[in-house]
Amino acid sequence: MHTYHTPLDLVRDRSPERPVALARPDAVATAARWFQDRFKGDVFYAVKANPSPWVIETLAANGVMSFDVASIPEIELVVRHAPGARMAFMHPVKSRSAIRSAYFDHGVTAFALDTHEELAKILDSTDGAADLTLIVRLAVSAEGAAYSLSGKFGVESHEASSLLLAARQATQGRMGVSFHVGSQCMRPTAFQAAMAQASRAIVRAGVMVDIVDVGGGFPSVYPGMMPPEMADYIDSIDRGFAEMMVHEDTELWCEPGRALVAEASSILTKVELKKGDALYLNDGSYGSLFDAAHTKWPFPVKLFRNDGGVATEVDGNLKPFRFYGPTCDSLDHMPGPFWLPEDVREGDYVEIGMLGAYGVAMNTRFNGFGDAETVEVSDAPMASMFGLAGRAIRLPREQQEEERKVVRFSRPKGRAGKSRRKR
Ligand SMILES: Cc1ncc(COP(=O)(O)O)c(C=O)c1O
Repeated sequence: MHTYHTPLDLVRDRSPERPVALARPDAVATAARWFQDRFKGDVFYAVKANPSPWVIETLAANGVMSFDVASIPEIELVVRHAPGARMAFMHPVKSRSAIRSAYFDHGVTAFALDTHEELAKILDSTDGAADLTLIVRLAVSAEGAAYSLSGKFGVESHEASSLLLAARQATQGRMGVSFHVGSQCMRPTAFQAAMAQASRAIVRAGVMVDIVDVGGGFPSVYPGMMPPEMADYIDSIDRGFAEMMVHEDTELWCEPGRALVAEASSILTKVELKKGDALYLNDGSYGSLFDAAHTKWPFPVKLFRNDGGVATEVDGNLKPFRFYGPTCDSLDHMPGPFWLPEDVREGDYVEIGMLGAYGVAMNTRFNGFGDAETVEVSDAPMASMFGLAGRAIRLPREQQEEERKVVRFSRPKGRAGKSRRKR
């Protein structure tokens, strides 16, 4: 991978025609070490958040050698870039051939499930293996999350007892429970509440579990979404685990995706046209900006200009802009608002930050685009949960007003909200 100190150096060196993904391995390393030091259990990286080889390699080099995988291609990726790593197949619905290949070809023994049918499939496809770790995914409240993952997966409480019992009886190996509080969880106590829900399910079923997997959901910083400190999430999990009805040797697992990688990547895009407050960029919703289009998150931005060989970061009066991507689809629209200097013009470069999670992972080839190159940069991310940069994203006064509205609207009531205001 080519390395530059900053994105500005890249613009100065060769004003790129195609979008460029900017990789910051140091940010992945810092987040990985933070989780390894602070989480009192095993950290499984959710590969789906960002399957780039440099991410897998950096995590492995910094002690994260466990991976939550959702498919055979993800398993093959981990085998290639983190040889010897431990994997858990946490997708609750898998094909028989994927289960078989995971178990027999790759030595994966941990499988998630949320139905009796999937349990039968796992047992059949592994020829009734004796060393399975079966993880029952429970449905829990996603109230504190900016991006709910409830609805599709997780067994509801009234059906959980029979499935927990069946899983316990089906394996001579280990059995556990998992859940997902929803992605970008803004309320640390959501973990403690979900663990209390899981504990009640275990007690009702009358089973003992060997693993409690608290899933992902750990947040990052985006405009309008300033979460509490990451340490508050760990405290909530510690309290939740202490209160659970589990035996002394029960293991604690987590599966962070976003929190390990969100800060570590941004995308450098080129302005192809300015039409009023709309900027037409060479990357969009079918590239790395899926969340900017579909969940309408306003990601932070910076502007660079190469004026006859003199490259600068452009400052000045900020105005709200919206973006269109390069495809012909009108859904290729990112409403923002993205605050950029008002004199932004064709040929300028917009760096869109905090795209390491669910950014490059979503890239498609639609309309012949999506061919982004990756270069490494060593400057700080635009915001950080781990002290690499200010936590707040610098915004003009008008947007700070908008920010307050968004935060007030999205933050759930309760202790987490109060403690944040005190800081
Ligand atoms: C099973 C599972 N674990 C972990 C994650 C990672 O979640 P997050 O990126 O919110 O930490 C996901 C995300 O979809 C998931 O489906």
